[in-house]
Amino acid sequence: GKRFGILTSGGDCPGLNAVIRGAVLKGETVYGQEFVGFRDGWWGLVHGEVMDLDRSVVRGLSHQGGTILGTSRFGPYQEPDGGAENIAKVLDRLDLDGVVAIGGEGTASASKRLYEDGINIVGVPKTIDNDLDATDYTFGFNTAVEIATEAIDRLRTTGNSHKRCMVLEVMGRHAGWIALYSGIAGGAHAILIPEQPESIDQICAWVTSVKKRGRSPMVVVAEGFKLPEMSDAHSTKGLDGFNRPRLGGIAEVLAPLIQERTGIETRATVLGHIQRGGVPTGFDRVLATRLGMATTDLIADRGWGQMVALRGTDIVRVGFDEALANHKTVPQDQYQEIRVIFG
Ligand code: F6P
Repeated sequence: GKRFGILTSGGDCPGLNAVIRGAVLKGETVYGQEFVGFRDGWWGLVHGEVMDLDRSVVRGLSHQGGTILGTSRFGPYQEPDGGAENIAKVLDRLDLDGVVAIGGEGTASASKRLYEDGINIVGVPKTIDNDLDATDYTFGFNTAVEIATEAIDRLRTTGNSHKRCMVLEVMGRHAGWIALYSGIAGGAHAILIPEQPESIDQICAWVTSVKKRGRSPMVVVAEGFKLPEMSDAHSTKGLDGFNRPRLGGIAEVLAPLIQERTGIETRATVLGHIQRGGVPTGFDRVLATRLGMATTDLIADRGWGQMVALRGTDIVRVGFDEALANHKTVPQDQYQEIRVIFG
């Protein structure tokens, strides 16, 4: 058969629609494949809620942010209707031969389990955080870096006018890629990431030395950064299992500490979900389109249990196992490389 269902799961990401468009256009044109979209991630698969996806639906979609399918953090094994057996029945009823799951780590591990339970499924890696080992870059990351860089540029001018220290918090719970890249691009005086503890004394030393040169200090901090002296009270995961809304995030902890200790007036900005919204960059549209198109080759080959990924400049295939083996965090040496010019 040649009918497949596509879903987008987990946090959304600029470029999701470009993946969908790439898959539908190439699948129809080259292989005569047909597609439906499951609504709101695994929810739509478990409950058989679908929408038609054809050439007319995906027209002009590559620049559109979000996902036309909707997304959720619902898991495919979630009771009462989840599980591979039920999903197999849904696929049968809808006359579908396989599933394309576009998502992050959680989606990939759920997909792996479904694959092992006999479901025909392939994956496309997705996250703005860029922390998936399967792929050199994830689509959406470049867009998030552009948005964060623009924020730094804007904070710099107002910071300079008022001679303030500006602290910008960007996303990244486990990996500091967005902070690192936007911080380098925007010429931040300090970049703080979850992988690398820095003491408040060190941060204040950087800030003070910038101020002594007559400049306004710019600090970029990833949401997952913790001061060595901080407890888990600032964890981003709530007791209910949802991510916490980032009120009183790390930037709002750091700014008053910096102000009190250095005597420099300091302001905090939490960029939040602006980093995930809106138009993807050209780079992300190209990457997402290529991944979507490569997915149609993968399902035509019945390459179940694999994902498409970027290696260097090539689109390759990797098994779910390999994709999930490691978390891609910022390596020490990449951080040290830029740390020498902080302050
Ligand atoms: O994984 C993507 C991401 O945007 C992280 O950077 C961030 O910590 C998290 O999702 C936010 O999740 P939510 O959309 O649940 O607030």
